[in-house]
Amino acid sequence: LLPRHNDLPWQLLRKFNNQLAMAEANLTLLEGTHTSIPKLRSGHVGGQFWAAYVPCDTQNKDAVRRTLEQIDVIHRMCLMYPQDFTCVSSSAGVREAWQAGRVASLIGIEGGHSIDSSLGALRMFYRLGVRYMTLTHSCNTPWADNWLVDTEQEQAVHNGLSVFGKRVVLEMNRLGMIVDLAHVSVKTMTDVLEISKAPVIFSHSSAYALCPHRRNVPDDVLRVVGQKRGLVMVNFYNDYVSCNQNANLSQVADHLDYVKKLSGYQAVGFGGDYDGVPRVPQGLEDVSKYPELVAELLRRNWNETEVRAALAENLLRVFKEVEDVSEMPPAEIPITFEELGGECRTRYGYPGSASVPGLLPATLAVPLLRALLQ
Ligand SMILES: *[C@@H]1O[C@H](CO)[C@@H](O)[C@H](O)[C@H]1NC(C)=O
Ligand SMILES: *[C@@H]1O[C@H](CO)[C@@H](O)[C@H](O)[C@H]1NC(C)=O
Ligand SMILES: *[C@@H]1O[C@H](CO)[C@@H](O)[C@H](O)[C@H]1NC(C)=O
Ligand SMILES: [Zn+2]
Repeated sequence: LLPRHNDLPWQLLRKFNNQLAMAEANLTLLEGTHTSIPKLRSGHVGGQFWAAYVPCDTQNKDAVRRTLEQIDVIHRMCLMYPQDFTCVSSSAGVREAWQAGRVASLIGIEGGHSIDSSLGALRMFYRLGVRYMTLTHSCNTPWADNWLVDTEQEQAVHNGLSVFGKRVVLEMNRLGMIVDLAHVSVKTMTDVLEISKAPVIFSHSSAYALCPHRRNVPDDVLRVVGQKRGLVMVNFYNDYVSCNQNANLSQVADHLDYVKKLSGYQAVGFGGDYDGVPRVPQGLEDVSKYPELVAELLRRNWNETEVRAALAENLLRVFKEVEDVSEMPPAEIPITFEELGGECRTRYGYPGSASVPGLLPATLAVPLLRALLQ
């Protein structure tokens, strides 16, 4: 069982400022969260994408540093609980960790603000093990629009993806990093589906037709995702399941049925969003309850192939296809200084920048040298 999206690292920051050695932070004894080692074990969770999430208010401030720290706390979880977690970064690694009886632990970053508009930062996150990136959280980045523009609470800035945004997506394709479209605007979804060379995922989004919330995926997009071999991993947050503060397991199964009907069984997954949301459905109170959902799908006549697909095989297939798409030299053209945004940027590398501090610009230095030598 390989559910997608879990925000435990965010809880570790909020509750313990990432100090895993604190007695209360012991992941075996942890209380008051949707996730702990015993809950993962009784839920038969064999793998997990941990979100290295940092909120939108870090954008143009300390987003990169905080994202690094969330990646670090995931790595430290794996080191501290080697009997339970193995950090992996490939589809083959997931299967190996499974066979060893460990929770295969993968890292995703949730929101393009985490890379601070830098292709270099994106590549370094890949090297640290990041294998998916949600293009936006609930804020526009300097290169992609988020779902709030569809509610008219925010203005569309890029009408989907900007030119630089397209470069980011293609660079993710080249690296072998999965593109995640949860949280983006519908136009960003369709822009990405048009240009991506590898299948994409929605790591935690449900069906708009069943609950018309803009965080969910509309029918026409569901159809295209199915055609393009992508994946929709259903979110369990009550507000996206029933458009109401109350929801139950049966309504989550309705979303899974619906995605299966429109996109095909090869496009269905479990998104969760445990420890990232305040309310979860009756019957799915924490990560130990996944088997109840499986039982419900079997009651609804999903066959074994379809259930296995939804549990893990679809995600592993997408991951493998993403790994297989990899050619081209690295993208080098940076975002323009004007698009970058933020108020306290240095201009190094951009036209009009001062050179290295303390040295005269060559254009000045050469005439000066000549004058001195004459
Ligand atoms: C967490 O608590 C369990 C049970 O008391 C203990 O066996 C384990 O060593 C603790 N783990 C860490 C990393 O402190
Ligand atoms: C789940 O909630 C729906 C809508 O409120 C209701 O019709 C249904 O009976 C509930 N199912 C279960 C099993 O509680
Ligand atoms: C399960 O369903 C899929 C299509 O949804 C079908 O291709 C497959 O043959 C079925 N498997 C069994 C064992 O019935
Ligand atoms: Zn989210």
